[in-house]
Amino acid sequence: MPATAVIGAQWGDEAKGKIVHLLAREAQVCVRFNGGPNAGHTVTDALGTARLHLVPSGALYPHCLGVIGHGVVVDPWALEGELGELKAQGRSQPRLFLSERCHLILPHHRVLEEEEGTAARLGTTRRGVGPAYTERTARQGLRLADLRHPAHVRERLEELARRGGGFDPHAVARELSQFWEGWSSSIGDGQGLIGEALDRGEHVVFEGAQGTLLDLDFGTYPYVTSSTTTVHGVGWGTGVRVELDRVVGVTKAYTTRVGEGPFPTEDHGAVGEWLRRKGNEYGATTGRPRRCGWLDLVALRYAHRLNRFSELALTKLDVLSGLEEVKICTSYRVGGRRVEDFPATVEELAQAEPIYQTLRGWKEELARARSPEELPERTRAFLTWVENAVGVKIRWVSVGPGTDDVIVL
Ligand code: GDP
Ligand code: IMO
Ligand code: MG
Repeated sequence: MPATAVIGAQWGDEAKGKIVHLLAREAQVCVRFNGGPNAGHTVTDALGTARLHLVPSGALYPHCLGVIGHGVVVDPWALEGELGELKAQGRSQPRLFLSERCHLILPHHRVLEEEEGTAARLGTTRRGVGPAYTERTARQGLRLADLRHPAHVRERLEELARRGGGFDPHAVARELSQFWEGWSSSIGDGQGLIGEALDRGEHVVFEGAQGTLLDLDFGTYPYVTSSTTTVHGVGWGTGVRVELDRVVGVTKAYTTRVGEGPFPTEDHGAVGEWLRRKGNEYGATTGRPRRCGWLDLVALRYAHRLNRFSELALTKLDVLSGLEEVKICTSYRVGGRRVEDFPATVEELAQAEPIYQTLRGWKEELARARSPEELPERTRAFLTWVENAVGVKIRWVSVGPGTDDVIVL
């Protein structure tokens, strides 16, 4: 299977990192194509728990090259900080290659995110991601390739500093030039490198960040991130026309969201609290408590329509053990009408009342289950319900954070 994409089917944090790591066992290349350090992907293996923001999850394997496609906005300081943390965990330095066409996140982007009020209004991750993409679209950004021309960088930074942002352009220019000295041999034509790897028949895993419902265009606009988070981001963020053999959609057995914006199945009561506590639903990037609720098949069908998943990985099924009943949202009621399709506006979504199918819960803990036979009958009924309603096969069921806590169906 030379080309595989792993895409979040919800509002992010579906455990893409874990699934990418699993699928990259035999991959030569793992590519990030969208987002930036707003992502927080968790991988738990024999060496402990790694929280990755810019480093592709597959790059934790020495055999796998991590590539950062040009669709990713790169914060050089965040990248070095992340590598420092991996080193402190006793991990060997990942092999990385960065597209020279990546735009940079600079110190003033975080300042702008606060000053413009976006951080508070949308509940962003405050990593400067939105302003960096805005500057890119406004054709005012700095790219990694520009670091080859220090005089140009200095000039641009001086101009930006005159406009505000409260940073010392000379200090930033110095730090960027140090970054270039250390990294120049790993920065170049990412598009070409990925294309050549595919031509050689190498196995490449494309690691989506965020999730389908946070997509700039197809998500719950304006409560979205600033990049293409669906499978279309693979071309958008690498420049390669990839014939994908697999498009793996990752969904939790329930739903979470962090930050502002509509969330029809959100539960403000005991169930939401259960999911947050048992699922340890706190952001991997910001530590914020995640909003929690039941699985939403209206949203999941929509994600399938946009991405045409070849299969699903359903994660955190273990978190539902012990609940008396398990609910699945099958449609919405909006203004007295039954709605099967995911609405385009937040106004409609805010009014959407979920219509639920209720299934009987199961008591058995699942963390040790490793084969389909070890799954209680009622969990299998749940999985079958989801498969039939969405129309796509569940290939992996994850029952814990560890690399081996997974059942292949
Ligand atoms: P990502 O952004 O999609 O990679 O997901 P995050 O890493 O932000 O959030 C997923 C969280 O769930 C992480 O803390 C994982 O360690 C944890 N996790 C992954 N799979 C499972 C699972 O099947 N069960 C449980 N209980 N935790 C899981
Ligand atoms: P991973 O890759 C969950 C959310 C933020 C906010 C909105 C915009 O770990 O799944 P941004 O900082 O991108 O401008 O914030 O998007 N958000 C995420 N939520 N997981 C993520 O990444 C997210 N990245 C951004 O909470 O609501
Ligand atoms: Mg995350």
